[in-house]
Amino acid sequence: MTQKLLRGRLLTFHRAPRNGEDTESYTYLEDGALLVRDGIIHACGSFAEISVQAPTVPVTDHRPHLMMAGFIDTHIHFPQVQVIASWGAQLLDWLNNYTFPEETRFASAEHSALMAKAFFDQLIAHGTTTAVAFCSVHKTSADAFFAEASRRNMRMLGGKVLMDRNAPDGLRDTPQTGYDETKTLISDWHGKGRNGYVISPRFAITSTPDQMTMAQTLAQEHPECHIQTHLSENRDEIAYTAELYPQARDYLDVYQSYGLLGGKTLLGHAIHLEPREIDALAETGAHPVFCPTSNLFLGSGLFNNAGLHARGISNGIATDVGAGTSYSMLQTLNEGYKILQLQGQALHPLQAFDWATRGNASVLGLENQIGTLDPGTEADVIVLNATSTPAMALRMARASNLAEELFILQMMGDDRAIEEVYVSGAPTKTASLGHQLESA
Ligand code: GUN
Ligand code: ZN
Repeated sequence: MTQKLLRGRLLTFHRAPRNGEDTESYTYLEDGALLVRDGIIHACGSFAEISVQAPTVPVTDHRPHLMMAGFIDTHIHFPQVQVIASWGAQLLDWLNNYTFPEETRFASAEHSALMAKAFFDQLIAHGTTTAVAFCSVHKTSADAFFAEASRRNMRMLGGKVLMDRNAPDGLRDTPQTGYDETKTLISDWHGKGRNGYVISPRFAITSTPDQMTMAQTLAQEHPECHIQTHLSENRDEIAYTAELYPQARDYLDVYQSYGLLGGKTLLGHAIHLEPREIDALAETGAHPVFCPTSNLFLGSGLFNNAGLHARGISNGIATDVGAGTSYSMLQTLNEGYKILQLQGQALHPLQAFDWATRGNASVLGLENQIGTLDPGTEADVIVLNATSTPAMALRMARASNLAEELFILQMMGDDRAIEEVYVSGAPTKTASLGHQLESA
């Protein structure tokens, strides 16, 4: 049995804060501690209380920094690490001109393996300990994704995209090969270690009705798997979808009519929704995913978080790299705050940090594994430093409470604010920095 005590200022959420005064929604300890046993949080409380339970266990003292659960990114594209920051286009042109050509390179197992390393290095650097990723259409890309996640013992969800039309040569499967490869990937990776497979029809435009039928079969045969796709991101996308699926009542009805909506379904973007679609989201329990930096970058539109929330719909929040412009969930919360401000929906920093951790875990149905510092959950823990740049230190000198500190992290923080990242109890950020310095 390996044990360690992590000491620091400690913050963990129990439910979504109703507002900034909702102090019962979280625990905050000025001198807190986590007792970690074999990668699992065994106890969480004040240092005074926990240290008497484990007097001989080695202590890592992170004070004055803040320990909280690792960030969870509920929508990201692994094969787009070299697409991020591609100029000038909105969704369909951006896909055709930049993204699809780049994704063809993931037919190579060697390229996929190299990029998987780079991708997970970025996640760790930015404090993201769990992500839900789209891989490319190639089985090789999903194999590389899960192999690297396994090597690092990270809780990762992902899947190869199903796409059999409206994409270049080398980037299409068929209904049958998409089905067969997904079956093999589920059997090779789902539930192995911390991996979860996600059935991933890319979006209505790139899947024929035959492929949607196969996706439905996969979903029926594997209720243990999540499902992810894209919904109503862009007006031209919506119009083209209506042409391709003329019988559908609206965009969401494409997925609904193939039985793809339920509590394990994640729908990226969900910006331009009809009233019937909102009703269907509420009825089925499917989860929209807000991707702020992407929605601004591609000029897609403003996500109506409060409107959906008022209907009892629970939304994820995510980077959507490579249309998203940062791997940082802090920067994602920053841009998210601004998008919601434009609609008169001021997101409190306590709500923001809950969303990126416990909230996203709850959207994934993984609240008992990740997203909090509760005993019995996996020790994916980050250490945040709100004075990590001179500008932040200057502002922090005038901050007088936790909410202000969190808001400074949210508006000004990035990977530099992430001091340490524990994955299953093992420190990975400083470890990988040391490795980079050695190999430089
Ligand atoms: N819709 C279908 N594929 C994609 C993608 O890769 N990125 C974004 N932002 N939207 C999509
Ligand atoms: Zn996406």
